[in-house]
Amino acid sequence: MRCFTVIYAAIVAGGSGTRMKNAPLPKQFLPIGSEPVIIRTVRAFLAVPEIDRVIIGIKPDYYDYTRKLLDEAGFESVILVNGGKDRNSTVKNIADEIKASFGIQDDDIILTHDAVRPFVSERTIRDNIAAAKEYGLCGTYIPSADTIIASHSGAFVDKTLDRRTLYQAQTPQSFGLKSLYTELSQLSAEQMSSLTDTCSVFTRKGMGIRIVLGDRLNFKITTDEDLALADALAGKM
Ligand code: CTP
Repeated sequence: MRCFTVIYAAIVAGGSGTRMKNAPLPKQFLPIGSEPVIIRTVRAFLAVPEIDRVIIGIKPDYYDYTRKLLDEAGFESVILVNGGKDRNSTVKNIADEIKASFGIQDDDIILTHDAVRPFVSERTIRDNIAAAKEYGLCGTYIPSADTIIASHSGAFVDKTLDRRTLYQAQTPQSFGLKSLYTELSQLSAEQMSSLTDTCSVFTRKGMGIRIVLGDRLNFKITTDEDLALADALAGKM
């Protein structure tokens, strides 16, 4: 039984990127600047000394491809596991791997992060670690810059929402690993796929999530326009 905290970064990269049109590969493998998106994302976590282990969940078809990319980048220590059929299943597979290989102890922490947010800052990662240690659950959010409306029809506005109370969710979302494992283990397959982020696993039970402020550069690459923006930024950063 070890008596020290281990901090894991779980990078979810098991998606297919269907909202990106005409891409030859899932978006996490496309180049921005001089390197693939996923390599930039992993580097951001490896640069933070408090992170003990980085584990990536990937579609099995891309296992060898990703291993080669990681090894070429000098990231041999990064562990690869099979992703699941939805985002939370990928997180669960990573947690299963941790449990099987290292065991889960009371103070262990896991930061879950989208592979397709390559501009996550060191400050955001450190703030997640600090908030997860203090509060047990936290997520990264930015205040909504735009006014948000609700529309059920998609044609007419039902309601204008109060911008002062609205935030956009980003990642990392970070947790005590033991409680995340317990909660994920209790979800049905249907719940797994309908909860679009990992914080929802807790908010559905009314559990409070500490807010860590993110920044607008930590955007998610979803569409071709996002990729073009990321490519332009990568050359400058
Ligand atoms: N993800 C995952 N496992 C899945 C589905 C998604 O690890 N089964 C990851 C993606 O690789 C991505 C993150 O979750 O890093 C955020 O998901 P999203 O942007 O929706 O990615 P995709 O599912 O790849 O994209 P799309 O919804 O356009 O198909």
